[in-house]
Amino acid sequence: MDLADLSFDKYVYLSMKKNRKKILAISGSTRSKSTNESVLQVIAAWYADVLDVRVYQGIANLPHFNPDIADDALPAAVKEFRTLVDQADGVIICTPEYVFSLPGSLKNAIEWTVSTTVFSHKPVALIVASASGEKAFEALKLIMSTIEAKISDDASLLIQGAKGKFDKDGKAIDEQVQESLKKVTDGLIAMIKQTRKEMLESYNG
Ligand SMILES: Cc1cc2nc3c(=O)[nH]c(=O)nc-3n(C[C@H](O)[C@H](O)[C@H](O)COP(=O)(O)O)c2cc1C
Repeated sequence: MDLADLSFDKYVYLSMKKNRKKILAISGSTRSKSTNESVLQVIAAWYADVLDVRVYQGIANLPHFNPDIADDALPAAVKEFRTLVDQADGVIICTPEYVFSLPGSLKNAIEWTVSTTVFSHKPVALIVASASGEKAFEALKLIMSTIEAKISDDASLLIQGAKGKFDKDGKAIDEQVQESLKKVTDGLIAMIKQTRKEMLESYNG
């Protein structure tokens, strides 16, 4: 492609697309037509110009965590999950609350990363979209800070009464929720930029 043939707007657009930040989006719900997966798809669509969002579809295929399984005998699905987290500039976790805690499938996925550093200093946005969700929200913040993920209030959100705030196609119909989702995503982008700046500064001494 000859750059001279491009309009300035098109050039800016293509450069932005090339430099999109890689985001791994993890839904804690394995339900088809999940509200939580819809939240992730909504963010992916809104931010398509600046974020390359991959909604992880493998959570239900991860085997049960077992510390006896050595690193050289890891199931392929686990290796893939760890690599996806490791290679992402940032992660968004969006989950319902089950029985006042995190769904087992999400907790299981996180457990597979505990002996690694894939989440260490990784910018992670935390969203709980549930009926109530307070306990899961607190648990998620505790778990992710324990494994040294970078989290912040600006990139954390509890959406209560979630089902009534999205239509049957998963579109956010509540204006306040739309605003909050944008604020959380902007908070994640700010954390990614800050992390890059800190890395460059430590690299340059
Ligand atoms: C087994 C089970 C347990 C649940 N327990 C809770 C709970 O403790 N707190 C809560 O807020 N919602 C609870 N819910 C409701 C879900 O969080 C709610 O329906 C949520 O919107 C589902 O998200 P999804 O549409 O992404 O699957 C429970 C649902 C199920 C299936």
